[in-house]
Amino acid sequence: MSISVIIPAGGSGERLGAKLPKALVQLAGRTLIEHAVAQMSPIADEIIVAAPKGLERTFQELLGSEVIVVTGGITRTESVNAGLRLLSKDAKFVLVHDAARPLASTDLARRIIKELQAGADAVIPGLKVADTIKRVNVDGFVTKTPNRAKLRAIQTPQGFTRETLVTAHKLNSEATDDAALVEELDIPVKVILGEDRALKITTPDDLGRAQRFLLGAVDRELRVGIGTDAHAFSSDSSRLMSLACLQWPGEVGVDGHSDGDVAAHAICDALLSAAQCGDLGSNFGTSRPEYAGASGAKLLQETLAIVVAAGYSISNVSVQIVGNRPKIGPRRQEAIDALSAALGGASVSVSATTTDGLGFTGEGKGLSAIATALITRN
Ligand code: CTP
Ligand code: MG
Repeated sequence: MSISVIIPAGGSGERLGAKLPKALVQLAGRTLIEHAVAQMSPIADEIIVAAPKGLERTFQELLGSEVIVVTGGITRTESVNAGLRLLSKDAKFVLVHDAARPLASTDLARRIIKELQAGADAVIPGLKVADTIKRVNVDGFVTKTPNRAKLRAIQTPQGFTRETLVTAHKLNSEATDDAALVEELDIPVKVILGEDRALKITTPDDLGRAQRFLLGAVDRELRVGIGTDAHAFSSDSSRLMSLACLQWPGEVGVDGHSDGDVAAHAICDALLSAAQCGDLGSNFGTSRPEYAGASGAKLLQETLAIVVAAGYSISNVSVQIVGNRPKIGPRRQEAIDALSAALGGASVSVSATTTDGLGFTGEGKGLSAIATALITRN
């Protein structure tokens, strides 16, 4: 299931008023287009950038040979069209993302893709608007005041199935975003929650806001935590395996009072240690019989509540599963999704390793996991 990202970056940035086209303007040591490509590359099988005419080589040198650079058009829509013409035939989903939104996160792109995978044809991020918005006529008189609660300020990346986007662009009409073309086809467009950091750089003031955003992230108190867990494989071959909040049919599980989900337990300990809230034993141990036999997912949910109550939010967690079996690779995304769901949608990474026949994991006697967590004070 291949994902292509088209980044229209062919504008001149007139309103920004820099000497260079907007995508080449610097923000915290990198050009806007480099920021946008860096955020999108973890989720993209292919990235196509539409550059201002005459600057194709500059963009190619800046972005490296992994990125496809095409000549942009006179308008944004034409630039997207130029990208579409080079779309790989494998592309199932296409994200269109403005270079003018350099800080839109990988996580936002992931959430868009998730909705597409769940069956939506068009998914766009949007934020509630704070201002009351009025429609005015050419003479500057108000003609309408739409209900603010129903309005959304729309951002990018915007995600589409390939066919939806290609068909929409065949309409040959102009719009300031791609969803507008899809709306003309009467195809439903789903709006999901956008993010403040996906702000659009239009004027010099916006560059300042983006810079403050990046600095703000550095200034905020960050804390890391670490956790490990280990269990022996059960001698009872009917014992079910629960790992990373998934069931593993055909695998013999590990012994233990709980479901023995070493990945979930290691993450709980990492989060609790980052928040200085003790550990699994001190929070859910024998003094709390109601947690005896609790699932990994339940413990993660409870841990999240403790971390949030202590005033933190999760930046990301990363867990490595150590053992000869089960093979994690084929179910990695499922494991990430299940752990993330238990943690309220937090960013989760899952990796796995064997230990070259060494130690109890290498001898196939059990499973262990090690996790780190990064949390941010709210
Ligand atoms: N864009 C493009 N090709 C164009 C015009 C715009 O690829 N012919 C891209 C811009 O590079 C930007 C995105 O579309 O990433 C959104 O456009 P906007 O913010 O309006 O950028 P500019 O057109 O460059 O800015 P301005 O309108 O101030 O000139
Ligand atoms: Mg423009």
